[in-house]
Amino acid sequence: MVSVLKIVDLHAKVEDKEVLKGLNLEVKQGEVHAIMGPNGSGKTSLAYVLMAHPRYKVTQGDILLDGQSILALRTDQRAKLGLFLGFQYPVEVPGLRFGSFLRTLATEVRGDKTPLSQFYSQVKQNLARLGFDESFLSRSLNEGFSGGEKKRAEIVQLMVSRPKFAVLDETDSGLDVDALKVVSEAINSMRGPEIAFILITHYQRILKYVRPDVVHILVDGRIVKSGDYSLAEEIERKGYESIKEAMTNA
Ligand SMILES: Nc1ncnc2c1ncn2[C@@H]1O[C@H](COP(=O)(O)OP(=O)(O)O)[C@@H](O)[C@H]1O
Ligand SMILES: [Mg+2]
Repeated sequence: MVSVLKIVDLHAKVEDKEVLKGLNLEVKQGEVHAIMGPNGSGKTSLAYVLMAHPRYKVTQGDILLDGQSILALRTDQRAKLGLFLGFQYPVEVPGLRFGSFLRTLATEVRGDKTPLSQFYSQVKQNLARLGFDESFLSRSLNEGFSGGEKKRAEIVQLMVSRPKFAVLDETDSGLDVDALKVVSEAINSMRGPEIAFILITHYQRILKYVRPDVVHILVDGRIVKSGDYSLAEEIERKGYESIKEAMTNA
């Protein structure tokens, strides 16, 4: 069965500021959606609300996974159901070894029972693919990682988690062009009927490498326009202002 993530009339607040104002979105396993939007439009808020960030409160609407509301579920429960978030600003966690974290992700999130040595040999392939050497496994998660390394480390976590719905929040920002290609190739290699991607991005750049099936424009807490890849090209040419003007004139 193909899983469906459906967001219906979602309203959410953080610290009394309304950040989502009636957002609708439906994503099916196997699809790649891009969510583009200007700074401050609510892209990260959407990602956080999907993963049950404790500071964000849903005030109206629902998030349904295969028809069931997940609003009452904690972050770890949502992760076990197959939701994943790659952070825009990954957090440093001193004392938590990257290697142990990856192992815990695999065992806790998807019940992986691969023997340790076999698990780490797979992980080492993923690391190499993302341009890391093995020494990173014994380092603290993200601590002292460069901006690009933090972003690439999110992709290693994604490969280990194997979610049904992967939300990647501006994974492209802060990557140089070579790293962007490496990350895009990794995403493309994972593409398939088992996984959906929600690529949150400010720029069209990553979408040249990872072609989305659908492009959505998020402005002021709601999706104001959806279309195919040509919508991303239009934004690149005309900027977000053109969309906002079209909205105010409508
Ligand atoms: N903790 C917070 N308190 C108050 N306002 C916030 C907080 N976090 C985010 N915001 C505001 O919510 C809006 C949406 O932010 P965000 O979702 O991060 O946008 P984007 O990711 O699209 O740039 C912005 O106006 C931002 O300043
Ligand atoms: Mg953001």
